[in-house]
Amino acid sequence: MTNVVSSEPTKGEPELSVPALYTAITAALVVANEGLLSCHFGLWGPDTETDREALLRANRVLTGGCNLEPGMRCLDAGCGVGGTAIYLAETHGVHVTGLTNCEPHVAVAAKLAEQRGVGHLVEFRHGDFMDLPFADASFDVALNHESFCYALEKVAYLQGVRRVLKPGGRWRALEGLLSGQPLSPELERVHARMRQGFCMPPLVTWRQVLADLEKAEFEGGEARKLDAEVAPSTRATRNNWLLYLFASPPLDKERQPWARFMQAALDFHEGLHHGVFTYRLLSGQTPP
Ligand SMILES: C[S@@+](CC[C@H](N)C(=O)[O-])C[C@H]1O[C@@H](n2cnc3c(N)ncnc32)[C@H](O)[C@@H]1O
Repeated sequence: MTNVVSSEPTKGEPELSVPALYTAITAALVVANEGLLSCHFGLWGPDTETDREALLRANRVLTGGCNLEPGMRCLDAGCGVGGTAIYLAETHGVHVTGLTNCEPHVAVAAKLAEQRGVGHLVEFRHGDFMDLPFADASFDVALNHESFCYALEKVAYLQGVRRVLKPGGRWRALEGLLSGQPLSPELERVHARMRQGFCMPPLVTWRQVLADLEKAEFEGGEARKLDAEVAPSTRATRNNWLLYLFASPPLDKERQPWARFMQAALDFHEGLHHGVFTYRLLSGQTPP
């Protein structure tokens, strides 16, 4: 076995389900990203100096304009090991419900929230965000931090979010999308390999999401371009991973899902660099 990654999607490998992928990479997620429990890219602003600051800034960009304050209820759909939910509870005193389809993440995230002193503000639940297990009008804000890409039916998902949001509630997502520029055959292969590594459906264009928001009867849909802010983070991820592969012994079978996941992150960098992928803050509001 070698650490050299071919440019083709892996053939003959069993496709993992999304929960199986995230279960397999749980331990790596807990130690990655300086213990911030984040499974997303950082966003660099004019004053950002470190990867850590960029990762935390991403949480702020995600919730910018939501006017979070104690007592408000937020849904973090596709919450991973809880980094964003814990950060929001710590920083704003809001109640956060994290929903994940990866069952082992629930206990990991809850334990980490207790350790950080916000166990009373956050709750983690196992479930599928395509079938949100919450009463109508439960939340002030609903968030998808790099998880909207997993919604198989985007309009149906957004209709579900609209149902659980209060009137005037806000939806925010940070997400990689297609820019709308045509993909060369080589970049189609990069897209296919990225889908395989992240176990996700094909990316959609940001314009499609705006149309889907309208269909789901959200108001004020926007898709703010953040390509320049995410690029230092995707570049650093690529450089660190290539260095790691160079220095480590061949990866064993158990770590192959992590290796394919990281390769997918490199593929996103590649598509972003060529302008066929874009990274956006998606937003919309339910009618008052
Ligand atoms: C890239 S990770 C992002 C995790 C987290 N939001 C963060 O920023 O650290 C995507 C997450 O979405 C979750 N996910 C994917 N599809 C889901 C679904 N249908 N229902 C609930 N969670 C889902 C996965 O389990 C995974 O934790």
